[in-house]
Amino acid sequence: MQYPQIKTTLPGPRVQELIDVDRQFVSPSYTRIYPLVAESAQGLWIHDPDGNIFLDFTSGIAVCGTGHCHPEVVAAIKKQADRLLHMSGTDFYYTPQILLAQKLASLGPGPGAYKVYFGNSGAEAVEAAFKLARWHTRRELNLAFFGAFHGRTMGALSLTASKAIQKKHYNPLVPGITHIPYGYCYRCPYHLCYPDCEIACVHWLEETLFRTTVPPEEVAAIFVEPIQGEGGYIVPPPEFHRELYKTAQKYGILYVVDEVQSGMGRTGKMFAIEHFEARPEIIALAKGIASGLPLGAMVARADIMDWEAGSHASTFGGNPISCQAALTTIHLLEKELMANATVRGEQLMSGLRELQQSFECIGDVRGLGLMIGVELVKDRETKERAGDWRDQVIQQAFRKGLLLLGCGQNTLRICPALTVTSQEVDVFLSIFEESLRELFK
Ligand SMILES: Cc1ncc(COP(=O)(O)O)c(C=O)c1O
Repeated sequence: MQYPQIKTTLPGPRVQELIDVDRQFVSPSYTRIYPLVAESAQGLWIHDPDGNIFLDFTSGIAVCGTGHCHPEVVAAIKKQADRLLHMSGTDFYYTPQILLAQKLASLGPGPGAYKVYFGNSGAEAVEAAFKLARWHTRRELNLAFFGAFHGRTMGALSLTASKAIQKKHYNPLVPGITHIPYGYCYRCPYHLCYPDCEIACVHWLEETLFRTTVPPEEVAAIFVEPIQGEGGYIVPPPEFHRELYKTAQKYGILYVVDEVQSGMGRTGKMFAIEHFEARPEIIALAKGIASGLPLGAMVARADIMDWEAGSHASTFGGNPISCQAALTTIHLLEKELMANATVRGEQLMSGLRELQQSFECIGDVRGLGLMIGVELVKDRETKERAGDWRDQVIQQAFRKGLLLLGCGQNTLRICPALTVTSQEVDVFLSIFEESLRELFK
C-alpha cells in the first residue's frame, strides 16, 4: 500500500527558499494554511521539490476530479496544443468549443434544450448567470443564501455571504440582493428539527419575506448551491430544493444552481442538483470541469438565453485546450469515475461515522459521494464550534503527509479526486484518526 513519505522537516530547504521568494512577490491576499509547494503530481499523490510525497485529499480545491495529470487528459491537451491554442470563441468558431457546448447542453436536466456560455472561472460563470437573469427577466432583485460562496468578482461577490473579510472595504457592491438562511439542519437557523420543521426555512420566503420586504414579481433569480461548499459542505434536507424550486416557479423566478464545487460528478451524479427534485433554468460550472485547466461554463435553458450579440463575452472563455480537456474529463466521468465517487463516498462516510463513535469532537458527518464535511465541536450538546481543533487537525495531517482543507468555521472538507482507490481511503482514514488522537494527547 502506498503511504505518504515525509523525508525532511516541513517545510524542507528548497520549499522554504521558494516560499521566501513568494512572500516577496506574490499577492498577500491568498490564504495558504501550510507550506506545500507542489512540484509534480499523479493521481492523488503530490511530490514537493524536497522529495516529500503527500496524499492529496483536496484535489486542488475540488478541481482535479480525474486526479492530477490523468494520462488521457494530458494526452488530449498535448494533441490540442499542437493544433490550435487560441482563436477567441467570441469572434470565431472552433471545433472543441462547439463540441463541448453540445455535450454540456445534452447534460441539462430539461425540460427543453440548453445553450452554453463560456468563461474562465467559477466567478465568471456566476457573473454570466447574474447578467443573463437580469437580461431575460428585466427584474432587478435577487436572492442568495447566508454561507454561500459564488466568487470574488463584484457581481459574484455581491451574491456571496461566506466570510466578512471577503467583502471588507469593497462596498458598495451590486444592490438588490437579499440573503436568506440555508437548509442547515445541524444548526437550524430557526431552531427546528427535521422532518417536523416541514422545511420552514423555505416556507419563510412566502410567509415573511415576500409579504414584507421583497416583492416576488421583482425577483429575477434565486442563486443556490445544491450543497453549500465554502460555507461548510452542508447538505440540505431532501425536500429543500424541491420546495424552493416550486416557490421560484410560482413567481417566475429563475432557479440558478451554482455547481462550481458540487458538479462534474463529485457527488456521484454529474450535477448535485440531480439528487433533488428541481430542474434549474441555469447551471454555473467550473472547477472540476476541465481537470485543472481554467474553464467556466454557464448552461442555461435555450429559451432563457435570449440575449443579443455583443451583450456578454470573454476573449479567453472556452479556450480550445480547456474545452478539449473538459471533453476528455466528461468522458472519464461518465465511463467510470462518477460510479467510483459513489462507492468510495460510501466507504469514506462509513469510516468517518465509525470514527465519530470514538471521537466526541466529531459533531456531524455529512455528504454525498466525494463531497463530505466533518464538523468538529467542543461539546456535542452545545455544538460549540471547534474551529481551532479543526485547524490543528489539518496541521497534524499535513505533517504526516495528508493534505486537507477546511470550510465553514469548523468543518473539514473531504474532496479527493474521483479516482481515489479503496487503499487510499484507508490511508486517509488511518492518518486522520492518528491526527485526531494527537489532538487529545
Ligand atoms: C460554489 C462556488 N461558486 C463559485 C466559486 C468561484 O470559483 P472561482 O474561484 O473559479 O472563481 C467557487 C470557488 O470556490 C465555489 O465554490
